[in-house]
Amino acid sequence: MTENDFVLKKYNSNNLKKGTFTWRSPSNIALVKYWGKSEPQIPKNTSISFTLNNCHTTTTLEFSKKENPSNGYDIQVIFEGLINKDFKPKIIKFFERIEKYIPFITEYGFVIKTENSFPHSSGIASSASGLSALALCLMSIEKVFNTNLTDDYFNKKASFLARLGSGSAARSVEGEIVVWGKHDDFSYSSDLYGIKFPNNIHVNFKNYKDSILLVDKGEKKVSSTLGHNLMHEHPFAKARFEQGNKNISAMNKILQNGDLKAFVQLVESEALTLHAMMLTSNPYFILMKSNTLKIIEKIWDYRKRNQSNICFTLDAGANVHVLFPEKENDQVNAFITNELIAFCQNNQYICDKAGTGAWQL
Ligand code: PMV
Repeated sequence: MTENDFVLKKYNSNNLKKGTFTWRSPSNIALVKYWGKSEPQIPKNTSISFTLNNCHTTTTLEFSKKENPSNGYDIQVIFEGLINKDFKPKIIKFFERIEKYIPFITEYGFVIKTENSFPHSSGIASSASGLSALALCLMSIEKVFNTNLTDDYFNKKASFLARLGSGSAARSVEGEIVVWGKHDDFSYSSDLYGIKFPNNIHVNFKNYKDSILLVDKGEKKVSSTLGHNLMHEHPFAKARFEQGNKNISAMNKILQNGDLKAFVQLVESEALTLHAMMLTSNPYFILMKSNTLKIIEKIWDYRKRNQSNICFTLDAGANVHVLFPEKENDQVNAFITNELIAFCQNNQYICDKAGTGAWQL
């Protein structure tokens, strides 16, 4: 599909005066990372992620026809029950990017009521869950204009719109594993939207666990937009993008054959490579904290002592995602509470697992 396929060309808004839609959309954690993009939010390499289950954003979109249609956007954001002005610029930018595809957004006034299941400023990025939830609500409006929309088109366009708000949000519409970015291994893959992993997932990866250790809950010092931009002049960029795409092929096989040892090696290598790109950018920066490294050492030690398949991954921040198979749940949970939470801010961590994607409430 091309960008043109996502332009809503004909619709009649005369009969739709107002309405409300609510979607709950999850966060996701990349196994092979996306870091580096070109305009408009086109990834430099393919990425693949677990959709999460418990970390999600619930968004209610109330809309009503403007009395006097104007070109500007009429948006009010209510975050966790309070009027929030901080999110508005990001949402306006998002609307500017998607107006071409859903032109009706200039005809309505919107109240966006949104809340996260995870603690505010926990260092967990809410952009993937937040922007996918909003994109899904907007698609529900499009569906009123065009009742013939297939589920497949609905999901693709929701992912397409979400991507224009935040790249990784393209991977938050479906579950349990999503591929975003054109890749030879997946004939239906696209740079424009995420697709559900099309192959059989080995039972070893069913209900895969992700416990998120909140090492540092502060605001990120370097935004991901800035970090992505530093890949333009990065001396290792080309090699990294090639490696990312090779790692997608390796991950494709691993997810089907259930090779947990290979999974652990690849996931950790990807996490460290993402941060290696940050360490070697110009200007360079470090998002890990000393407790991030202490946790990694503990995980390696535990894995060796217990012949475990536990591993870690990192996002663009200091928090550590501890990934492990469902059958190790009891032992790893004991390890986390006994040995790892001491390295978390206020002992905080979130138990999550791979989930099935967004749903309408
Ligand atoms: O979605 P963005 O543009 O904020 O980029 C985030 C990229 C990483 O989270 C660091 C990696 C990934 O693939 O999710």
